[in-house]
Amino acid sequence: HLYGKGRRNSRGVDLTDRRAVEPLGAAMQSAAERGWNAAPLIDGKAQSGSERKVMDPADHGRQVGTAIWATQEHVDKAMRSASAAAQRWAATPAEDRARCLERMADLMEEHMAELMALCTREAGKGLADGVAEVREAVDFCRYYANRARADFSAPEALPGPTGEKNEIRLAGRGVFVCISPWNFPLAIFCGQVTAALAAGNAVLAKPAEQTTLIGHRAVQLLHQAGIPMDVLHLVPGDGAVGASLVSDERIDGVAFTGSVETARRINQTLAQREGPIIPLIAETGGQNAMIADSTALPEQLVMDVIASAFQSAGQRCSALRVLYVQDEVADHILQMLAGAMEDLVIDDPAWLSTDIGPVIDEDAQGMLQDHIDAMRKRAKRVIGEAALGPNTGKGTFVAPIAFEIGGIHELEKEVFGPVLHVVRYRARDLDKVLDAINATGFGLTLGVHTRIDSTAEYIASRVKVGNCYVNRNQIGAVVGVQPFGGEGLSGTGPKAGGPRYLHRFATERVVTIDT
Ligand code: NAD
Ligand code: ALA
Repeated sequence: HLYGKGRRNSRGVDLTDRRAVEPLGAAMQSAAERGWNAAPLIDGKAQSGSERKVMDPADHGRQVGTAIWATQEHVDKAMRSASAAAQRWAATPAEDRARCLERMADLMEEHMAELMALCTREAGKGLADGVAEVREAVDFCRYYANRARADFSAPEALPGPTGEKNEIRLAGRGVFVCISPWNFPLAIFCGQVTAALAAGNAVLAKPAEQTTLIGHRAVQLLHQAGIPMDVLHLVPGDGAVGASLVSDERIDGVAFTGSVETARRINQTLAQREGPIIPLIAETGGQNAMIADSTALPEQLVMDVIASAFQSAGQRCSALRVLYVQDEVADHILQMLAGAMEDLVIDDPAWLSTDIGPVIDEDAQGMLQDHIDAMRKRAKRVIGEAALGPNTGKGTFVAPIAFEIGGIHELEKEVFGPVLHVVRYRARDLDKVLDAINATGFGLTLGVHTRIDSTAEYIASRVKVGNCYVNRNQIGAVVGVQPFGGEGLSGTGPKAGGPRYLHRFATERVVTIDT
């Protein structure tokens, strides 16, 4: 069973049910007003330092809290404590480690409203995304707890012809550094950290600088769930703090999720440093396409394009960037798409009526605006545009837009926001489309809309992507059911939320006894 006895996946919230939504909204409101403070947490103690204001991306006049970033002294202190604790934690029975993760899952369900409030106010997440974020984090905890029990509790016997007793044992590697992005500030943060802990490692966790408050709260809850204070430390800060962590000779592994540029930098740092050769688990970006042929069901296709390209303001690594639509049906489909885009509500993410909230910060907004300005000149035409809502003036909002272009090769890099590119293709050119998608070097998600099974199968077998979705949207992989992660420029694997993820955080030891 995926999640252990009697459990399936996490409890959700029905956002169409007023009886569920009203108390949740009230609890979120009071949590949002609490005034949050985050700081490096070393041996469970908040460290002092200079405070930075954390502002709401939906309204830059609204302060959410304050954050203190780690100094080199904090990094050293956390590193010393984690190194000393690592062996003890590796020797802690997998069952005990698993129980801590399950308590964490329960605690997050209990604290759902406050975690959602932080996701909304610090990360700009809408309500549906906030629910999904907490649920994914909960699912990671329960799933990895169960995987740890299954794979780490006892050695695996290796019967064979040698006549000896042979067994393989999985053990924590030592100290893992976990570096996460802002776009899944709770789910990916918890996913990395709990995987490393479940496999028996001490952890230095560095959340993205934009979402320090959420990382801080998650570590507090993990400590409350029973993870010893010296086994898990929070080391917040920007890329410089991340760089200092990965260059340290005392670490035994790195789990990173973020851009391909940062993954390359980390790889270079690891290659240049002295000390042991250690694993890097990198989950990076994508240049994700969807292919829709003339047999696609138009209403379903348009709904899935809207969700894939614009949900979470397009700030998902899995999001759709380039839609290939077969020439014969393109005019009809694109007209429907333009209509659906006009209906999108872009506004305060805390409101139920909002479809799309802000992008994370001014840098992101600026990069997206530059791309949109360039595409307005370069693209064949604008297919559709949404309008900003009345309360967007003080935040970093970007209105969804779709351009028609000649091919995926025209995009030089991942455009991380609500910008869709559409290409018409002829049925006889399908192979050229597949080659062009593969030629980007990315390999994260692919969407396919066709009612011809053999076409779906052919496309899925030809395109080098980690997650291929047929006749549905291409976002929101479910832990344990749709293990997630890409290949090529999109990541090293193994897949998060999959049966082999914990193994990469562990070392394998074979013991042979001549009987
Ligand atoms: P980013 O690469 O800018 O930052 C990610 C993390 O790396 C942050 O914590 C940052 O502080 C840290 N960092 C930056 N420079 C560093 C350095 N030199 N050494 C060590 N750490 C450093 O990415 P982002 O903007 O936070 O996130 C968006 C990116 O993440 C997109 O490219 C998206 O596709 C990708 N992403 C991938 C997945 C996946 O599962 N494949 C999931 C979510 C996001
Ligand atoms: N796991 C996230 C998704 O599938 C990135 O959208």
